[in-house]
Amino acid sequence: MRQYINFNWKYVDNYKVEYLQKFPETYDVVDIPHNVKDLPYNYFDEKCYQKVVTYLKEFDVNEIVKDNITILRFEAFMVKAKIYLNDAFLGEFVSAYNPIEIDVSNQIKQENNKLLVILDGKEDDLVPPFGYAVDYLTFAGIYREVSINVQPKVYISKSLVSGDMHGNVYIKDIVGGDKYIAHKITHKVYYDDKLVKETGESSFLIENRVTWELDDPALYTLETVLESEYGVSTYKTRFGFRSVFLTKEGFYLNSKKIKLVGLNRHQSYPYVGYAMPRSAQEDDANILKYEAGVNVVRTSHYPQSEHFLNRCDEIGLLVINEIPGWQHISKDEKWRNQYYENVRSMVVEEYNHPSLIAHGIRIDESQDDHELYEKGNKIAHELDRSRPTLGVRNFKNSELLENIYAYNDFRCSDLSKGLDNPKFVKLKNNPYLVTEYMGHMEPTKATDSSAQKIHHALRHALVINDNFKYERSCGAIGWCFVDYYTHVDFGSGDHICPHGVFDMYRNKKYAASIYASQQDEFPVMEVLCNMRPGDFKEATYQEVYVASNADYIELYKNGEFVKKFTANTDKYNHLRHPLILIDDLIGTTFKDERFSDKDKVVLSKLLSYLSFYGMQKLKVSHYFSIARLMLKYKLKYSDLVDLYNEHCAAWGGKAKTYTFKAYKDEKMFKEVSLGPSLSFDLNVKMSKEELANSDTYDVTRVSVSYVDQYNNIMPYANKPVVINVEGPVELIGPSIESLLGGQLSIYVKSKNEKGTGKLTIICEDIVKEISVEVK
Ligand code: GAL
Repeated sequence: MRQYINFNWKYVDNYKVEYLQKFPETYDVVDIPHNVKDLPYNYFDEKCYQKVVTYLKEFDVNEIVKDNITILRFEAFMVKAKIYLNDAFLGEFVSAYNPIEIDVSNQIKQENNKLLVILDGKEDDLVPPFGYAVDYLTFAGIYREVSINVQPKVYISKSLVSGDMHGNVYIKDIVGGDKYIAHKITHKVYYDDKLVKETGESSFLIENRVTWELDDPALYTLETVLESEYGVSTYKTRFGFRSVFLTKEGFYLNSKKIKLVGLNRHQSYPYVGYAMPRSAQEDDANILKYEAGVNVVRTSHYPQSEHFLNRCDEIGLLVINEIPGWQHISKDEKWRNQYYENVRSMVVEEYNHPSLIAHGIRIDESQDDHELYEKGNKIAHELDRSRPTLGVRNFKNSELLENIYAYNDFRCSDLSKGLDNPKFVKLKNNPYLVTEYMGHMEPTKATDSSAQKIHHALRHALVINDNFKYERSCGAIGWCFVDYYTHVDFGSGDHICPHGVFDMYRNKKYAASIYASQQDEFPVMEVLCNMRPGDFKEATYQEVYVASNADYIELYKNGEFVKKFTANTDKYNHLRHPLILIDDLIGTTFKDERFSDKDKVVLSKLLSYLSFYGMQKLKVSHYFSIARLMLKYKLKYSDLVDLYNEHCAAWGGKAKTYTFKAYKDEKMFKEVSLGPSLSFDLNVKMSKEELANSDTYDVTRVSVSYVDQYNNIMPYANKPVVINVEGPVELIGPSIESLLGGQLSIYVKSKNEKGTGKLTIICEDIVKEISVEVK
């Protein structure tokens, strides 16, 4: 039985040799997941957490340990650790992103165990991803859970299981302990808590299986029971029935062709880096599926939390994994052996996840290295025959040893080109996948100007448009999901790469809505403009687009109907739901009876053009038209200015309110009004309202946004927010923070107690109180 030991560790921020004899009297009490140092939001020295620290956990074991086998398991710590149990030295272990399992049967006692971990958080050049510059931080600490598992002398350690779309199940059992002791293995398969098969076989058919699909990810449970004279050992895991085919014609899940549209994810969070428990990991998967609406995520550039992968299985979000690395390959034997171990560990650990479609086994964007990658591929294929390997490169014509040619395509540098045509990548018959685009090509902060955030969104749209255009490609995965902490050599000089379509607090930039508008599971309408002309150069909006999966959009000005819009541009017409260009702000509201009906249309188009592009961009045809109208209706220049101010309100007229209504199947599903912001409030939303301590503490994300009377986020409200907490909860991060582009997320964690926690959030004269139950 597994017993988690995550609460109440003693922790000192350094290490001295005398701690081996006597742990210091003064220490902090911490819970796992733990990070060595809370970082500020930005601007710090990354060396601050790269040190040697000491942890001590005192614990009793619930199961009888005598005559049994006890395995100590760390899900992950960064980077390496010397580990002692009851004064016995167990060894030095490199984890970084891999679980570490140690047989402690000879050292464990029933009670008063002392587990001492001397953790070295310094970057080690002989451990991937280290050895040269790396564009992400790695955060020292025991950042994933710790457990012990007490088992009989022969036991089932793990069953590797896969199911295909036809209902075939293939199982490889890994037996632990003394394998030569006589034992019997039984496999039981459950669906919806009902036993559907019980057999001693390792491959068998489940008739009438329900397949794992993106919109209905049916999960089965396999229970492996191993019986011997020493007792019964069981192992439980979930799996699904699905077949994946990455081909030169595209990607297929079961029999359905699906264009992969995705985002890359780093697993770091504000302040605590990697140290986040289950619910925060699940929250990220939920955001990707239900807010960004993507169908695939790449766990760049390392194996990520099993909680994240479990959630992907549950909600139908495809995953491509990756071994730790970043561009650099070392010639050193130790580094290379660690790379091989990383491939092995990742393939075995992640094997059972139906959401996982390919193993990324090439160091991201590295040069060719025949020996390394031939062996890496061999390890992956021998362990997992059910999945293809994938190798991510950033130059063309590199040696292809993997099954899938994966390419980081940073071709999009303005609004004229999206992706390289796959036919120029010189592929043979291999499946092709774009694994990164955008990122450093257009860093965009939540605090940037509207124009910047719109441009960022349109470039993402252009790439996704090409993704749909090129049939040859299986799909494209953008860089990236959220802004992330990085080394001083990268980013905006503040230790953040603002490459996310969400900020580090998981709040949306415009670009996130481009992705969301491409799916049909939930309704989306985002107007890519705040309709405040003064926010743009020369008080002109330029192009106003709406990202939506609606059939059409209706526009109203000050409550009066203007026009109905449907997809209307050539530029984004390969998108599943093309962007809608709002090219007329006047439409039927132009009722000035001085003009003929025909000239009303001419004038409303002309005035709209002016408010989008300004005087400077008038074309010759516009001048002819103006001259004609002035002559025909004896207009003075000031009459034209008056008309402009009345209908457009760019610089000189009264501000207008524009209302956008989105319709699907003739039903309105969303309405957005953008007009003068006059009264303000704080919107507060929690990712979950109840916290449950179980294997460890729990976390909720409280999103706060400063909104106007129309519920629109005020992007320039970078105001301070004071957060007070009471009861069995604690804040992650400081108690005074600034809104970032009008938004903020406050992560709140449970203490190891039950009760009602209270949060008071104060922003100027607005005070919000919320409570959260800890169970
Ligand atoms: C890629 C790299 C990513 C990230 C990205 C930024 O070259 O693979 O990790 O650095 O650039 O755009």
